[in-house]
Amino acid sequence: MGTLAYIKNFIRDRDVAAITPSSKFLVKRVCKWIDFDTPRRIVEYGPGTGVFSKYLLENMHKDSELIMIEGNASFVQSLRQYCEGDERAVVVHDRAENVRQIMNTHGVERADYVLSGIPFSFLDEDVKHELISRTRDVLTSDGKFLVYQNYNHMEKPLRRHFDSVKREYEILNLPPMFAYEALK
Ligand SMILES: C[S@@+](CC[C@H](N)C(=O)[O-])C[C@H]1O[C@@H](n2cnc3c(N)ncnc32)[C@H](O)[C@@H]1O
Repeated sequence: MGTLAYIKNFIRDRDVAAITPSSKFLVKRVCKWIDFDTPRRIVEYGPGTGVFSKYLLENMHKDSELIMIEGNASFVQSLRQYCEGDERAVVVHDRAENVRQIMNTHGVERADYVLSGIPFSFLDEDVKHELISRTRDVLTSDGKFLVYQNYNHMEKPLRRHFDSVKREYEILNLPPMFAYEALK
């Protein structure tokens, strides 16, 4: 799915929140925080057209697992087509806020990583904190919450819920993005 289809979805659905997928520079900057050598469970919020998901599936261990939670039906359809036949991948048409129920439905309790591209700034303050807290709960004791956002509004709430937060900035993305690695 190219930029044109992305723009069409952006016009119809404000939650899409971008007119083009993330750049390969941002994907690499965020995914360097992931250990690809051992089996891991990764949950992705808001995969969109799947630029991160495809990188994860190409690089992750054969026994790893990727659960993608996407709110836009059109993106879900194209992600399902892409993932067809890959038993490591599950595409769920739902909202990230329901992560706990979604994981329960799939018979899993904890994730090693949660990677998020959803526009947290669109959520009410209490919903934002609740989702960050819920995300912390579904992570393993050494799990990581990896987030990218176009302005630095997530550092403070992440620091409130996580023991350690690292922040970087990727200029080679439209728009440039803040990337965060939050550790329990
Ligand atoms: C800025 S786009 C990022 C897409 C992709 N990850 C990328 O980096 O190119 C945000 C994505 O999150 C999805 N989204 C927004 N809010 C969501 C929510 N609460 N739960 C699940 N998906 C959501 C949108 O439909 C869209 O696909």
